[in-house]
Amino acid sequence: MSACPFHQVLDETLRLSDPAPEAAGARREFPLMPVGQACDMGRTSDGTPLIDPRLFDSAEFQRNPYPYYRIMRDHHPVFHDTLHNCYWVTRYADVEAGYLDDEGFNTIPKGMSNGVLGNTQLELSGIEHRRRRNLYGRHLVGQALDRRIPIIEHLAAEMIGSWFDGTAPDGSIVVDEHDPSRRSVELGKAFANEFPIRVVCQVLGFPDEARSQFFYWYSSMMNGLGGSETAHLGIGARQDLEDYVSDLVAQRRVQPTFLYDDAGDPIGKDIISELCTTVVDGDLLSAEEITSNIALVVGGGGETTRGAILNMWYLLLQHRDQFDRVRADPTLWDAAFHETLRCASSIGGQPRHTSWDVTLHGVTIPAGSLVNMVDFSANHDDRVFADPERFDVFRPDLHTGKIIRSGVDRDGRRSHMAFGVGPHLCPGAWISQQESVLGSRVLAAALDARGIRVGIDVDRTPKDIDGTSLAPIGLGAIRSLWLTLEEAPR
Ligand code: HEM
Repeated sequence: MSACPFHQVLDETLRLSDPAPEAAGARREFPLMPVGQACDMGRTSDGTPLIDPRLFDSAEFQRNPYPYYRIMRDHHPVFHDTLHNCYWVTRYADVEAGYLDDEGFNTIPKGMSNGVLGNTQLELSGIEHRRRRNLYGRHLVGQALDRRIPIIEHLAAEMIGSWFDGTAPDGSIVVDEHDPSRRSVELGKAFANEFPIRVVCQVLGFPDEARSQFFYWYSSMMNGLGGSETAHLGIGARQDLEDYVSDLVAQRRVQPTFLYDDAGDPIGKDIISELCTTVVDGDLLSAEEITSNIALVVGGGGETTRGAILNMWYLLLQHRDQFDRVRADPTLWDAAFHETLRCASSIGGQPRHTSWDVTLHGVTIPAGSLVNMVDFSANHDDRVFADPERFDVFRPDLHTGKIIRSGVDRDGRRSHMAFGVGPHLCPGAWISQQESVLGSRVLAAALDARGIRVGIDVDRTPKDIDGTSLAPIGLGAIRSLWLTLEEAPR
């Protein structure tokens, strides 16, 4: 046994969590399995498969998580992970109940996100949360959003137009040197990385001249969220943003600016101007609080929507028959968006803390424990969605209509869990759906108008371990998606 007290605790922890103590060690290599199959991590005497918590840090879990989530749902629906000092809740019904119970499962400061994003509503519960939640929410939903649809379409058309007039971002398009009617386009660089940020900057009322600087702040803050060595850059970028926003706040407190619809009629103050005049508990919001709100809206709406657009095109193009039907009937893009988020959401789940002891499936989670609510797993729970690994835009058991806070529609169909449910349901859900659906419709129409056939450029798109098949999406979003665009002969 090690003499250092820290190592003693670690040794003890690993011994407790390790079904095969002789293999103890904080890291373990897991074999990379064919997608959909789990490697054997040992069994109890009655044959119940075990989960080794070191799995969660492995490359295998990143690319092939779903067979392991199935084992957890079926055999360890509340998994006590003594290595990471938390509990994993993986069944749809339990995740849903936890999100709806804002008192028993409270939100908590989320590690580095707190340092980088600042104090945001993500970390508040109960009345405190309700007071701040609705500060600007109306801009992201309902009539105010409907009136901004032409602006979203216009932003999409502008970016997609650049693919054909030589102004696309560097490195995003490669034209075939032998046949200029064929080109490859990286959908992320050419569209999805920036489009959601442009939309959100616009609704925030962020000045045009600061936009390029804003992309730098945004990507530094996002890179800093993981608590990695880039964390200090993230915190630095947040400070720069706050300095910039302080001046903006001073101006907008005196002279608010407005959003206009396509006809030039005012829709209302932009979000920043709205926040500048908002009084909470008798006080105007400080520049720090306003910066945190900006950081949250942009941080919450950038990577997530980027991932939704990329994953949707990736999955549809691998299911050509479904893609052709969606292209033929643009109203189906909404169902494609929701089925994508069910099958491969860009956010895995949310942490919660237990406010008191909770016993679930025979496991007592002590008060104050960290509980990982796993949205990825809930979305693949066959207690709710039949044949859950299958991507099917036409599945009858998924609610694909208007987003509902309760998570269940009148016909008993459940929503996917990618936006959460209950009090913290993503307030950007509607706008991200509009961005993904309208952006995809504009793109499909631009291709149709030019008689262009689209497919996946398999040579350039990341591969799985066999070096030939396309990489599975795994946890989160695919890194890049190269499309082939081929003009049909006239
Ligand atoms: C596909 C895209 C998106 C996904 C998958 C997503 C997912 C989520 C999830 C799961 C939560 C709940 C967090 C919790 O329960 O603690 C959340 C919260 C939030 N999201 Fe999104 N989001 C997306 C797009 C957006 C967009 C476009 C915006 C802003 C324009 C946004 C802004 C927010 C904010 C402000 C919160 C905090 C809500 C609260 O705590 O009350 N999100 N999002």
